[in-house]
Amino acid sequence: MLSALLCLLALAGGAAPAAAAANARPCASPDSASAYPFCDASLSILARARALVSLLTLDEKIAQLSNTAGGVPRLGVPPYQWWSESLHGLADNGPGVNFSSGPVRAATAFPQVILSTAAFNRSLWRAVAGAVATEALGMHSAGQAGLTYWAPNINIFRDPRWGRGQETSGEDPAVAAAYSLEYVKGFQGEFGEEGRIRLSACCKHYTAYDMEKWEGFSRYTFNAKVTAQDLEDTYQPPFKTCIQEARASCLMCAYNQVNGVPMCARKDLLQKTRDEWGFKGYITSDCDAVAIIHENQTYTTSDEDSIAIVLRAGMDLNCGSFLVRHTKSAIEKGKIQEQDIDRALFNLFSVQLRLGIFDKPKDTQLGPNNVCTAEHRELAAEAVRQGAVLLKNDNAFLPVKRSEVRHVAVVGPSANDAYAMGGDYTGVPCNPTTFLKGIQAYVAQTTFAAGCKDVSCNSTDLFGEAIEAAKAADIVVVVAGLNLTEEREDFDRVSLLLPGKQMNLIHTVASVTKKPLVLVLLGGGPVDVSFAKHDPRIASILWLGYPGEVGGQVLPEILFGKYNPGGRLAMTWYPESFTAIPMTDMNMRADSSRGYPGRTYRFYTGDVVYGFGYGLSYSRYSYSILSAPKKISVPHSSVPDIISRKPAYISRDGLDFVKIEDVASCEALVFSVHIAVSNHGDMDGSHAVLLFARSKSSVPGFPIKQLVGFERVHTAAGSATNVELTIDPCKHMSAANPEGQRVLLLGAHVLTVGDEEFKLLIET
Ligand SMILES: *[C@@H]1O[C@H](CO)[C@@H](O)[C@H](O)[C@H]1NC(C)=O
Ligand SMILES: *[C@@H]1O[C@H](CO)[C@@H](O)[C@H](O)[C@H]1NC(C)=O
Ligand SMILES: *[C@@H]1O[C@H](CO)[C@@H](O)[C@H](O)[C@H]1NC(C)=O
Ligand SMILES: *[C@@H]1O[C@H](CO)[C@@H](O)[C@H](O)[C@H]1NC(C)=O
Ligand SMILES: *[C@@H]1O[C@H](CO)[C@@H](O)[C@H](O)[C@H]1NC(C)=O
Repeated sequence: MLSALLCLLALAGGAAPAAAAANARPCASPDSASAYPFCDASLSILARARALVSLLTLDEKIAQLSNTAGGVPRLGVPPYQWWSESLHGLADNGPGVNFSSGPVRAATAFPQVILSTAAFNRSLWRAVAGAVATEALGMHSAGQAGLTYWAPNINIFRDPRWGRGQETSGEDPAVAAAYSLEYVKGFQGEFGEEGRIRLSACCKHYTAYDMEKWEGFSRYTFNAKVTAQDLEDTYQPPFKTCIQEARASCLMCAYNQVNGVPMCARKDLLQKTRDEWGFKGYITSDCDAVAIIHENQTYTTSDEDSIAIVLRAGMDLNCGSFLVRHTKSAIEKGKIQEQDIDRALFNLFSVQLRLGIFDKPKDTQLGPNNVCTAEHRELAAEAVRQGAVLLKNDNAFLPVKRSEVRHVAVVGPSANDAYAMGGDYTGVPCNPTTFLKGIQAYVAQTTFAAGCKDVSCNSTDLFGEAIEAAKAADIVVVVAGLNLTEEREDFDRVSLLLPGKQMNLIHTVASVTKKPLVLVLLGGGPVDVSFAKHDPRIASILWLGYPGEVGGQVLPEILFGKYNPGGRLAMTWYPESFTAIPMTDMNMRADSSRGYPGRTYRFYTGDVVYGFGYGLSYSRYSYSILSAPKKISVPHSSVPDIISRKPAYISRDGLDFVKIEDVASCEALVFSVHIAVSNHGDMDGSHAVLLFARSKSSVPGFPIKQLVGFERVHTAAGSATNVELTIDPCKHMSAANPEGQRVLLLGAHVLTVGDEEFKLLIET
């Protein structure tokens, strides 16, 4: 159904239609190989890329180094826009996605990542990424989107104030790694011959990037001081998985420095991805991340020096125009040679060739009709349902029987705001449903009162109408929490409390309702709602993250018991007192000598409002361990050289460790745990089963506990389901030593699921 014209337009990937010259796919015609050697399908991808580079002039080469890459009309090479965004649906934060002209005017806004993560369901994550990819291909076919996307954001949600924590899959490196695997595989699709892919996904932002703008610090100039230990077992694992296992075709280097060197210039860390993790793809800078190296970080003394260090470090593409403007002069001044550019172009053209950009288009079924489909809307709803986290439910207040409710009051500034629902990197939603609209579909008499003019809630002027609405209703639902006005890109929070006078609003409303009220919280970052947790006038608290366009549809399903929630928090909810710690302190490990409590459930020693993995359900679930090994033996290295050179295990402070690199076969250590999950409630339900491990002895610098396996399980009311978790001790039960080497602690470990636990001995 696609017209040829649309196909051609697609090649411009968001650039002006004029760019779609008749020869926009230089290799589309059967005899193109004789005209252009880079079209020769009998050559390898790399040989084709080299052949193309060999034909280019210096100026033509330099024009390739920007996200807005120039075309080479004399060779039929079209211009290309590398920057499209797809974090949780197609978004127009980058110029590659364009909703304002063409047949596609909206795309499905799936829930923000922090909410989908709370589902702890790998197949859901993969399905969502697959649906976003389908929409991307559909939109691409209409010339309104590119083929290269800069998602997922797999940084660790290290500090609860982080404005972009919402975009991530939380604080646990293993969860972020698992999410990256599903996202990239679901998005890029199956690999074809020589790594051909339908779309390109990007692991960002490499590495230790998790602060926007806080007090006097800015992400553009921040020097993240990271220990070798934290780097190895907190910041790097998602990137390693995203590259090595998921085989992403793009990596983005971050703005920040790590230990004094700008990330796009950290040759060691960039090269590691290729040499050790087998990365085959292109490395892009974050936008303007090269310009700031001289201008703002004063790390180099000239713009040309900045270009030299990033190209020599292995960066291939610059988001922005900096390289286009200054590379010629860097060559003229002898800072770089033309080969330094060629190296980058081999990577860039290889990815374009793997995407088939130059070749005859495949017969594709996808087009504008594959965007905003009912199927995608249902999947988005499913992601909200599965991710929703029930934080409090006194006396099983929820679900309420719809038949017993005549009048609902819906209170809160976001309750009728379709644009508070999406979070960062939301495009144009297809058909957003607000909470008010969603509840109106269930209960005819529904009164709305904003209570506050906006989420910042600086005045009590509108409290009066909220009080009136609340007094008259049987059930009161207050929608509170955050919005992009409080947390977003380039903007961190300074407080974990509800913004402005929102707490006063909740207190005021709670004091006049007939029954305890239901508090719905929006936002990506944790909120200190201790007051609500302890207030009996607040019966239930439900966290919905940023639910995207279907949030309003799903809320009443949960309130009225059509869906039984079972999501779990993917990050620790700290109390407000945590904000005494500088956001800039990158240390994960607690340090009592300086009163530092550590970060995330793996190391944090202080009090929590709600912990990592917390989440209730309308059912009570219990677990019993059906089978698990009592001990496992680490096979000694089979490499004689290693055995003779260093001991297979090390002893320190009376404890024995084995270095992961010395383990002959990590696969031999993999084991299964079978768990029976019983649902004692009267509703069927699915929920996330989380298995944690800790060492029997508490070892300084080792995690207090860590997640070693998870699986979402569906269990019918009054029955039991068996679930099998597969544990990879090398990967999930190990941690880094102070030198940054991964080690596995020998001896007794305790594995826990809910209230059940069992002991596992690891020996050599
Ligand atoms: C979208 O594309 C149209 C037509 O090419 C162009 O005029 C417009 O500026 C683009 N919009 C954005 C936001 O890039
Ligand atoms: C970098 O410095 C330039 C020149 O002082 C300034 O205009 C620009 O806003 C700064 N950029 C950032 C991201 O701080
Ligand atoms: C939420 O934030 C968006 C984007 O900043 C803004 O347009 C909207 O008005 C805000 N909504 C509320 C209720 O404050
Ligand atoms: C609300 O008050 C805070 C400080 O109390 C201020 O920073 C913010 O700009 C105000 N917001 C609005 C929308 O007036
Ligand atoms: C996980 O998500 C998929 C996709 O939505 C769904 O089909 C499946 O039922 C979910 N698993 C559980 C146990 O809820």
